[in-house]
Amino acid sequence: MNKGIVNVDISKGIIDKNIYGQFAEHLGRCIYEGLWVGEDSDIPNTNGIRNDVLQALKDLSIPVLRWPGGCFADEYHWKDGVGPRADRKRMVNTHWGGLVENNHFGTHEFMKLCELLETEPYINGNVGSGSVQEMSEWVEYMTFDGESPMANWRKANGQEKPWKVKYFGVGNENWGCGGHMRPEYYADLYRRFQTYVRHYGDNRIFKIAGGANVDDYNWTEVMMRESTHLMDGLSLHYYVHPGGFWAKGDAVRFDEQEWRVSMQKAYHIEELINKHSTIMDKYDPDKRIAMIVDEWGAWYDVEPGTNPGFLYQQNTVRDAVIAGISLNIFNNHNDRIKMANIAQMVNVIQAMVLTEGDQMILTPTYHVFKMFKVHQNAERIALDLDVNKLEIDGNQYPQVNGSASKQQDGTVNISLTNADIDNEAVIQLELRGLTVANLSGEIITSSKMNDRNTFDNPNKVQPLPFKQFNRSGESVQVTLPPMSVVMLTAKD
Ligand code: AHR
Repeated sequence: MNKGIVNVDISKGIIDKNIYGQFAEHLGRCIYEGLWVGEDSDIPNTNGIRNDVLQALKDLSIPVLRWPGGCFADEYHWKDGVGPRADRKRMVNTHWGGLVENNHFGTHEFMKLCELLETEPYINGNVGSGSVQEMSEWVEYMTFDGESPMANWRKANGQEKPWKVKYFGVGNENWGCGGHMRPEYYADLYRRFQTYVRHYGDNRIFKIAGGANVDDYNWTEVMMRESTHLMDGLSLHYYVHPGGFWAKGDAVRFDEQEWRVSMQKAYHIEELINKHSTIMDKYDPDKRIAMIVDEWGAWYDVEPGTNPGFLYQQNTVRDAVIAGISLNIFNNHNDRIKMANIAQMVNVIQAMVLTEGDQMILTPTYHVFKMFKVHQNAERIALDLDVNKLEIDGNQYPQVNGSASKQQDGTVNISLTNADIDNEAVIQLELRGLTVANLSGEIITSSKMNDRNTFDNPNKVQPLPFKQFNRSGESVQVTLPPMSVVMLTAKD
């Protein structure tokens, strides 16, 4: 039997709300169609941003949003995306589908989106094909409050007051699409570029260096050795591709073997976090530098018949469980992980919402993010689990994972997942120090592993009340159905 202890009196620090961050790239139908329809669209919108998507995303309380890429960031020239829209330069989006990018969604539109979502902007600058001057001027344009060429230009473009920009990424995947650099070379470039990412007035920028791909520990070693004193965060990217990068597997038409491989690969991120953290600890024992997992998620082959460069995929209950596992792992590493950004927010990879014309559906992953938002900025409390192991291809992974936190009003939330496709997971949980009386639950699950929401059946997978638990005194026995994500809430 699985068992565990929740100890409300043992604090493990705050779970940074930014772990529930999102990522929106100029890729496929994420920005255009998914978010931006333009002010003249028949689709109801606010300043060109579609209202249905906006409202759905607002309900997630998204703390931080990364933009404009991804690979796109290192070929994006921000000056092409400001000023009157009709005059903006058209460019080819070479990474993603080779389509014409009309630059109608630029800095002002992104900042408006952040304002409407009440989210913190995280801008990713261009190192791969940009210049130091270009990056420096972007920061000046956005944040300088005074008389300067860039600030004057911003004002002429309709934004009198500077915006607040806290998070700034200096390049993206510079080991790959961001320039195919060696870590030594990028470390030097990082040092140079970040010098000109200025703190204007009281706008303090949190500088994020481009980090490793998956298990490239040498990259982390070199970056930490060479640039620790000049960065605030170091990124890490990891995707779950059940079939590997080149034949990732289908998002919907998969078998039980693929389900199990997906779960095992979702759990694998914990090993990466541990090993990269060990290197970071060597150079930064006080954990000043944050690990920023600014791209993560399950990435499959595109939906049949869609543009291969658009990365449009469906989202099933498998994705809900992957999201639950990952978020629990991030919560449990809150000492080092201060931000994570799932890829991506709309219509791309493991999306929150999917759109088709004027229609929108919420994905199972969306429901997990909504369910888990109670952990944002809550105090993590000790949860020790001793659980059964599952196995695929000689690799073991836990049947159950979880994390627990306490909100300011004393409400305790325990999130649990069951990765097992066949068996329920019975867990005996000791509840130490839990004074609040009422226990309730919510669950995301479905009877078939590839159940999903579609435009014809938009609520096939959605949160439902969960009652399969029995409390007696200081313990509770919980029965998690196969393939499920559960939130238990204790409050008065
Ligand atoms: O999220 C899709 C792409 O994956 C990003 O543009 C890139 O950074 C990563 O390889």
